Amino acid sequence: MRVGISGGTFDPIHTGHIKSALCAKEQLSLDKVFFVPCGEPPHKLSRRITPDADRVEMIKRSIDGIEGLDVSTYEVDKEEYSFSVDTVKYFAEQYPTAELFFIIGADVVGELCHWKSIDEIFKICSFAVLKRPGCDEEKFYRDIEENRKNGGTLYEVADAQVDVASEQIREAVKNQGPDAEIVKKYVAPKAAEYIKEKELYVKELPFDEKFALADMKRRLKPERFKHCLRVSAEAVRIAKEFGIDEEKCRIAGLFHDCGKEVSFHQLYWLDPKLQDEALPENGGSMKVIHGPAGSLIARKKYGIIDREILDAIRFHVTGAPDMGPVAQVVFLADYTEPGRDDEALKDIRKYFATCPRTEEGLAAAIVKACDSSIAFVKSKNDFLCPATLATREAFYRKKGDIQ
Ligand SMILES: [Fe+2]
Ligand SMILES: [Fe+2]
Repeated sequence: MRVGISGGTFDPIHTGHIKSALCAKEQLSLDKVFFVPCGEPPHKLSRRITPDADRVEMIKRSIDGIEGLDVSTYEVDKEEYSFSVDTVKYFAEQYPTAELFFIIGADVVGELCHWKSIDEIFKICSFAVLKRPGCDEEKFYRDIEENRKNGGTLYEVADAQVDVASEQIREAVKNQGPDAEIVKKYVAPKAAEYIKEKELYVKELPFDEKFALADMKRRLKPERFKHCLRVSAEAVRIAKEFGIDEEKCRIAGLFHDCGKEVSFHQLYWLDPKLQDEALPENGGSMKVIHGPAGSLIARKKYGIIDREILDAIRFHVTGAPDMGPVAQVVFLADYTEPGRDDEALKDIRKYFATCPRTEEGLAAAIVKACDSSIAFVKSKNDFLCPATLATREAFYRKKGDIQ
């Protein structure tokens, strides 16, 4: 038996995916091609993909009645994000006597060398590389040759010319509704019906705390994740004492560091401007940028729309002269949460325990926090962020005569 594996987000699946699978099936005499929708990719930060069940259902409806096409829920059923090496191993186990072909687009061949455990994958399966009419042939064959040298078995498949991307379909539904022309043209009627029924792509997915927390847990180091939980609890405690919105502080505290551990490369996909902002020559740093990056992830991927929460995440690293009460609480909770134990923080905690439970008292504690941050940065000879200095100045004025 000869089995093809076609992975992707399929959000949504369109005729291009189906035609490519059929091209591979026909030209390589495959008995079956499985569409394998992936789970939520942890490295994709700017968007949350449509729930697994919906994407699987759209695939089922699109391939209904087409012989030799099937869907596998292996990756979406997995708790952890599945890498291609796990998926091919799974298929090798399921079909021990079958010959496996991983179907990929021409644009991916050049990146195969970066795939996790590519040597192992090369031993388990071959690759069917789709060649679109009009592609850069020189690069296509060079990439194929390179992978053959590395031990891969690659076959060329002449792909059908279907010029559509799932993103265009999503955009069209969002802007023109589910009856948009592009949907009729490129989405199977039964899948298009499903998009309409479930109102997919019309609006952003709403905030789902369980999803967001699981996603953040997967991306952050365990210690940092625990720190987020502690900041959240601490923010609630402070909010209660100062009469500030506890729920907003809880959520903002919980996700304040969701932009940590994001690479310089990932910043680009969140917003190209963030990369510039992070460059030292522009007065930025990767340390400071996790505030703005986190605020974008919280909005784009987690669906948080509350301005106060987003600002609290955005400003928690440097502070901001005009930050509101929720941002002030989170800024402070990041210092006073009980898990941090350096001496300077103990001082802030001690001061904070006795300062007046008023706006001025909170402002005075923020001045202390800024002082500690400024002293720390100076001791390390690090770049001193102007926003922290401006925050200190503004809150020094706000605190009035509180010492
Ligand atoms: Fe942080
Ligand atoms: Fe933090």
